[in-house]
Amino acid sequence: MTSVNIASLTDLPTLPLILRSLFEVLQDEKSTFVDIANVIKHDQSLTEKILRVANSPYFGHTGKVNTLEQAIMFLGYDLVKGICLGTSVFRFLGRNERERLGKLWQHSYEVGIIAANISDHVCNIERGICFVSGLLHDIGRVIFITLHKEKYLLMLSSDKIFLKEKEVFGIDHPAAGGNFLENARLPEEIVCSVRYHHKPSMCTRYRETSSVISLAEALSRSFFPKIEDDGIWTEEHDAILLELSLDEGKIKKVREKAVEETAAMQELFTV
Ligand SMILES: [Fe+2]
Ligand SMILES: [Fe+2]
Repeated sequence: MTSVNIASLTDLPTLPLILRSLFEVLQDEKSTFVDIANVIKHDQSLTEKILRVANSPYFGHTGKVNTLEQAIMFLGYDLVKGICLGTSVFRFLGRNERERLGKLWQHSYEVGIIAANISDHVCNIERGICFVSGLLHDIGRVIFITLHKEKYLLMLSSDKIFLKEKEVFGIDHPAAGGNFLENARLPEEIVCSVRYHHKPSMCTRYRETSSVISLAEALSRSFFPKIEDDGIWTEEHDAILLELSLDEGKIKKVREKAVEETAAMQELFTV
């Protein structure tokens, strides 16, 4: 089985310092938000991104967050960790690949936005957790590209992507992403949602959150179709609509808000 975890990335001699430091802080159970702020400060574009996200109306603020520490307090440690991991791992692909695979990142934040909007119609599910889980749901695919670019690009648009991933790497992208985020000590709810985003019925803990992410991914194909999306609608999604009492009217509202918010967030999330 191919090793897909933080260690397999840190073994790469080309790993940028910022990502190496970020992994160290995330893996250290004694680290605090001050430690992560100190790492982010060394990367100007990441610092600017976190501040802009914290000051964006989408996250409820209007230009009053001036420092990274304030931004982390306001956005929450998990959201900041998620944005740092997602953007840094993606940026590590290099400019050419980023341009080629920019749509995969776009798909990631679109699923985050759809998931956050679905959560508004579901009781006892946190919007922020849904957004981060959606943002990171396909991080396993980005890691496959980082480690095995040529092999992975050939299977990128396949509808049988999980089977192909298992055949070639011995593990599929939901499992690889889940392992990676567990390794980075992200909350179990995010780890589980990512690990089961294509098979939420297998998720025993946090089943509802996992179902929301899976539904968001499946809806992304009709809301924002692109070659890089992997949102395949299955019978599980019909069952989720019933389980979560999501009727046509609610899905229409989710779509309208997601279209509006995605347009507004595009600039914010460009890597
Ligand atoms: Fe996926
Ligand atoms: Fe996806």
